[in-house]
Amino acid sequence: MWILAIVNEKGGSAKTTTTVNLAAALAERERRVLVVDLDAQANASLWLGVTDEGQDLLEVLVGQRAIDQAIRPAPALVGVEVLPASRRLGNLAAQVGWGEFPQGLLRERLATVRERYDYVLLDGPRSVDLLSTNALVAADAALVPLIPETLAYLGLVAMDAAIQSVRPILNPNLEGPRVLRSRWEDRTLDARAVLAQTQEQFGPAILRSVVRADMAVRHAARAGRPVVGGPRSRAGDDFRALASEVEEWKASTQGGISA
Ligand SMILES: Nc1ncnc2c1ncn2[C@@H]1O[C@H](COP(=O)(O)OP(=O)(O)O)[C@@H](O)[C@H]1O
Ligand SMILES: [Mg+2]
Repeated sequence: MWILAIVNEKGGSAKTTTTVNLAAALAERERRVLVVDLDAQANASLWLGVTDEGQDLLEVLVGQRAIDQAIRPAPALVGVEVLPASRRLGNLAAQVGWGEFPQGLLRERLATVRERYDYVLLDGPRSVDLLSTNALVAADAALVPLIPETLAYLGLVAMDAAIQSVRPILNPNLEGPRVLRSRWEDRTLDARAVLAQTQEQFGPAILRSVVRADMAVRHAARAGRPVVGGPRSRAGDDFRALASEVEEWKASTQGGISA
């Protein structure tokens, strides 16, 4: 079992798209996948077909509900389970006491179910706060999607700083961050500038997979389904290649054991 946090401080940087499509591509490879939605806007939950509120991550974090009673099969994606978010998640900091290691809540809650899955994908919030810290403390590895915009690059820099500060005491084994070029268009000036900066600062951490900008993603998002599993598309192929690279990454951190 491996917990991968998909994080970038910048909203709109393809976190949710990456989470949902990577989940679909891993499920195609017959991996057991749980998606945990950490964004109060609950986009991933909606995308996975969850339409009700309640029985969600907030209740699990604050101890009102056992995690088993909140995880459910994703109505819209066969083979994937989901622990949904709700708007109330935005109040997390107000609802937990500061005395009881609140940065470690998610890690603690996932401990009882983690062995049921090959992958737990955490769809990160658009902020560096108690929730994103919970994701980084719970995770085995961090993946930062990077769209070719300077603000997204700054989001990567902020996440890297957050990771560096979490690692020494709260999660010494945290891998990464690795960088996924997303919604990528090679030929634009912005992409070249962002890539040059990223290579300079994060060179070896850049994944070889690239998810190209593809209208198929937007069409699929509008229809509320992943591109993986839909009609053949460039982005669908890219997410499958990503799933394969993520499996390699996981295996390399676990002494070559790939399952
Ligand atoms: N490869 C892609 N090609 C085209 N559009 C994309 C691609 N990846 C993401 N998008 C679009 O970019 C927007 C932001 O993506 P989203 O995953 O919601 O970001 P975040 O979760 O980081 O806020 C969405 O409208 C999504 O459909
Ligand atoms: Mg999102």
